[in-house]
Amino acid sequence: MIHAKYHFPDNFLWGTATSSHQVEGQNDNNDWWAWEHQPDRILHNQKSGNACDWWNGRWKEDFDRAAEDGQNSHRLSIEWSRIEPGPALWDDDALAYYSEILQGALDRGLVPMVTLHHFTNPLWISERGGWENPETVKYFERYVHKVVSVLKEFVRLWVTINEPNVYMYESYGSGMFPPGKKDIKSWPHVARNLIRGHAAAYHAIHSLQEDALVGVAHHYRGFRPANARNPIERMMVRVRSRTFNNLFARAFTDGHMRLLHWRDRIPEAKKSQDYLGLNYYTVEEFGFDPMNPGSFFREGVLPESAEKSPTGFIANIPEGMRIALKWARAFGLPIYVTENGIEDKGDTIRPGYLLRHLLEVWKAANMNWQVKGYYHWSLVDNFEWDRGWTQRFGLWELDRVSQKRTRRPSSELYAEICKTNSISSDCVRRFAPQISDDLFPPKGPAELSDRE
Ligand code: GAL
Repeated sequence: MIHAKYHFPDNFLWGTATSSHQVEGQNDNNDWWAWEHQPDRILHNQKSGNACDWWNGRWKEDFDRAAEDGQNSHRLSIEWSRIEPGPALWDDDALAYYSEILQGALDRGLVPMVTLHHFTNPLWISERGGWENPETVKYFERYVHKVVSVLKEFVRLWVTINEPNVYMYESYGSGMFPPGKKDIKSWPHVARNLIRGHAAAYHAIHSLQEDALVGVAHHYRGFRPANARNPIERMMVRVRSRTFNNLFARAFTDGHMRLLHWRDRIPEAKKSQDYLGLNYYTVEEFGFDPMNPGSFFREGVLPESAEKSPTGFIANIPEGMRIALKWARAFGLPIYVTENGIEDKGDTIRPGYLLRHLLEVWKAANMNWQVKGYYHWSLVDNFEWDRGWTQRFGLWELDRVSQKRTRRPSSELYAEICKTNSISSDCVRRFAPQISDDLFPPKGPAELSDRE
């Protein structure tokens, strides 16, 4: 029987990720709260409600769990609508509470990574046109300036905007996120303002904190043709990769916005990332039906042969993580995997998903790609946007009524990985025996046996 380990680099950051609206509860002054209270916006009309009750202090017990389980970092977000409930109206108590939360993270040995915008906007921002309005850039910059001037005492690792591509598509394309528009003509405006907003935040943070590390959490989706030899399907994939995966990451590199036929120069966005934040979950396939030319524009589907999460939202395709990391590496910056995970209430798929995806992270790090950390989504079940409470991403299960947390086996698996900074054959045998021979081939890696 093999006894071996995959070791991660020293000082690797191991964490979980959360966001304010998904865990805090009672965020009643933002556009999501208003959205949840409209009929049929959220699956089964579910609401965030008290969420994981962090604003009442339950972050403490969750941080205790994270720290006891060997994590050394946590990614959380600041709720703009709490800090600035009305234009230029600052809630110093809210800022003081975030200081307490961040000090609480540090006291437990959790290096904080802080996101400044994670999908939600204060109501007064959405009432003024949200990210379609160029003025929002200035408002965002002012908020960032305020937050960072106070919280820089506790934080060096910043994420300006979470998944600007998902935000743009869901809010102005599919209409699943507020303001629920399906209007492609708004995209160039929204994209430009998000790019300018990030750039303004990047420069504001550096003007206050020279040694800050500032980035964006980019959602990378693995797009592939159903048939690799089909040129039309390959083109379908190219269009999606450019507009979804590359739009923002390239603009933050060279200062150019390229969105379908819309072009713009945004010089202040050039080289405006200190690291590349990568959120990776799944792969989608695109098939073209020659009898139906309109199928060129259809949505991708999860590859049929792949193992799926219980509500069919995520396909377990670790190779996609490899491709995502390769994509991220091309930007020549250090990489943090800012999100990765799977909705799996019963925790039957998660252990294998986690191990296989982490092995791809290990391979990258051990080829000396500058992968600095990994944040699993998420620490505890939380409010999953338009899918409400139907999807459970937590390492810990949440009972929303009693607020009781229950360990899922994956939390123990992740704890062993974090505590030992490695994946051991013994741990794989205990938590995911079905993939043990894949991760630790009994005859050694194929390359070696070939040479014998
Ligand atoms: C990401 C998002 C998170 C979380 C996750 C799981 O796109 O940043 O807030 O919802 O997906 O679906």
